[in-house]
Amino acid sequence: MSSELVVHITGARPNFPKAAPVIRALEARGVSQELVHTGQHYDEAMAKVFFRQLGLPEPDVDLGVGSGSHARQTAAIMTGLEELFLDRDPALVVVYGDVNSTVGAAMVAAKLGIALAHVEAGLRSFDRTMPEEINRVVTDQLADLLFTTSPDALVHLGHEGVPADRVHFVGNPMIDTLLANLDRFDGDQVRGALGLGAEYVVATLHRPGNVDDPADAAELVKAVHAVADQVEIALPLHPRGRARLEAAGLFTHERLRVIDPLGYVEFLGLVRGARAVVTDSGGVQEETTILGVPCLTLRPNTERPVTITHGTNRLVTRPELAAAAAEVLAAGRATTWSVPPLWDGRAGERIADVITAFVGVAVSPWEARG
Ligand code: UD1
Ligand code: UDP
Repeated sequence: MSSELVVHITGARPNFPKAAPVIRALEARGVSQELVHTGQHYDEAMAKVFFRQLGLPEPDVDLGVGSGSHARQTAAIMTGLEELFLDRDPALVVVYGDVNSTVGAAMVAAKLGIALAHVEAGLRSFDRTMPEEINRVVTDQLADLLFTTSPDALVHLGHEGVPADRVHFVGNPMIDTLLANLDRFDGDQVRGALGLGAEYVVATLHRPGNVDDPADAAELVKAVHAVADQVEIALPLHPRGRARLEAAGLFTHERLRVIDPLGYVEFLGLVRGARAVVTDSGGVQEETTILGVPCLTLRPNTERPVTITHGTNRLVTRPELAAAAAEVLAAGRATTWSVPPLWDGRAGERIADVITAFVGVAVSPWEARG
């Protein structure tokens, strides 16, 4: 009999809040599953804290691939997963988002003839200088089940020749996790621990386009300091840009608290109580949309336009940031805002329904043949 095993691949920080509700919903449906952590992220604050805080099971396998160039890291992910998939013979591999662990797993599954599901399919920035855009396009070409978070995704996938019957508009599992944990987000507690006043901004910055090149990093530091001239900022800094931003003088402004990455609950507590967020993160654009916190995204584009049309997000350049922050601070927080369709806390359930049916269908013809 063919396996009904579903194997989930996670590896980097944004994968964990997307996977948690899917795993939980499949568990409730009695589906046999294993969780793989590739080890792309490995620090306590970048990975382990999410397993604890989000109630994820301990990974069945930790490949421990660690950091490296794109080719080295993706190759280590592929080598480890090939061996694992051959051993486990899963009925379905589920990948999340757009990181190297996503595309590495997708390529291995496809070449072994194992069915592939992609959660958060069809997002497009149309900017191939972003490694994530390449990961998205490749993964979506290989996937058998594509779970989308917003209506624009189906249009993009259609243009790329993906048959519509593979695509399921299910909503946003990252928002399931946010809504499920809302009661735990205590902004005052985290603010107090950091010694921040009542009015503060939260920033996160890690995109290569902002932090990898010294000239970009210098312009970024100038822009962030110009916001700190107006209001206190808490900046839990991703390890990627730390050295370069420090060299560019980031740490020298007295109203800018640069801290280590925060756990999920602490981070979203801080965001919930903030006057505004400055970010280049993908997930944070979505989370601020639901929390109603004004979001200034330091990028020339976004693969998540629904956060602009429905949410609180706005794209700004580095030179525009200080003026945009002044506007947002003067306007105060919105009292009403709209929520993108199906960002209702039930995406994991919808994904689990499709997967459960798919795994059942996948088993039957095989049994019939055997
Ligand atoms: C990766 C994703 C990016 C995502 C981000 C989320 C890819 C191509 N990029 O970028 O889409 O937004 O994760 O956080 O997959 N490091 C540590 N400790 C860790 C992990 C990383 O110190 O636990 C440092 C290492 O120096 C490493 C660098 O961060 O070289 C970059 O890590 P990597 O996973 O390669 O890419 P991210 O920039 O984190
Ligand atoms: N996040 C966190 N602690 C932090 C910064 C971010 O828990 O200090 C969470 C954030 O709430 C979101 C996820 O990490 O759930 C987003 O990850 P990241 O910004 O690293 O990746 P991206 O979404 O840009 O791919």
